[in-house]
Amino acid sequence: MIIRKATYKDARRISYLINKNADHVKENNYTPEQLVAWKKDNSLKAIKTKMKQREIFCAFENEKLVGTIGLEGNYLVGLYISYSKRGKGLGYRLLAFLENYARNKNIDELHLTATPNGYGFYLKYGYEPQGEIDLYYDGVKLIETKMKKKLK
Ligand SMILES: CC(C)(COP(=O)(O)OP(=O)(O)OC[C@H]1O[C@@H](n2cnc3c(N)ncnc32)[C@H](O)[C@@H]1OP(=O)(O)O)[C@@H](O)C(=O)NCCC(=O)NCCS
Repeated sequence: MIIRKATYKDARRISYLINKNADHVKENNYTPEQLVAWKKDNSLKAIKTKMKQREIFCAFENEKLVGTIGLEGNYLVGLYISYSKRGKGLGYRLLAFLENYARNKNIDELHLTATPNGYGFYLKYGYEPQGEIDLYYDGVKLIETKMKKKLK
């Protein structure tokens, strides 16, 4: 797996990967309205806008995008693994990469907001729950869990 910083040329593939992910989270009781809002928040245009505010990284296998993760300030953001590639250790490798990257930037503590889907994963790797937070995507509320981990 190769990890590199994303460029605008990658935005379409990143948006596609995240939108495909959204098709597989129905088990988490998201309403159709919430899924539409989530997808809108990860449209091509939205990803290009996010790229101005955060550093986004892409993971490739055989030149195919298999995952993405980002850093915005001291927040870990936008970790997604291609649905067909889940459960093969790629999520952990991207997480470890980002933590190392943040450490090298002298970030002491990483924060994130976890979806119900990602919560158990972050818990396994030492992120501590800090309570729930209401997030609004295109005016639609999604409840996530604030989490943090000391890096040093
Ligand atoms: C959550 C996600 C990033 C995990 O990536 P992944 O590549 O499937 O996970 P890995 O294969 O690296 O898993 C590493 C370990 O974490 C465990 N794990 C993975 N997802 C888990 C979850 N949701 N809850 C608990 N444990 C989990 C695995 O069982 C594995 O444990 P093991 O090494 O003891 O077998 C991925 O499933 C994903 O993209 N989900 C949808 C998007 C999402 O919810 N992102 C988080 C937004 S906050």
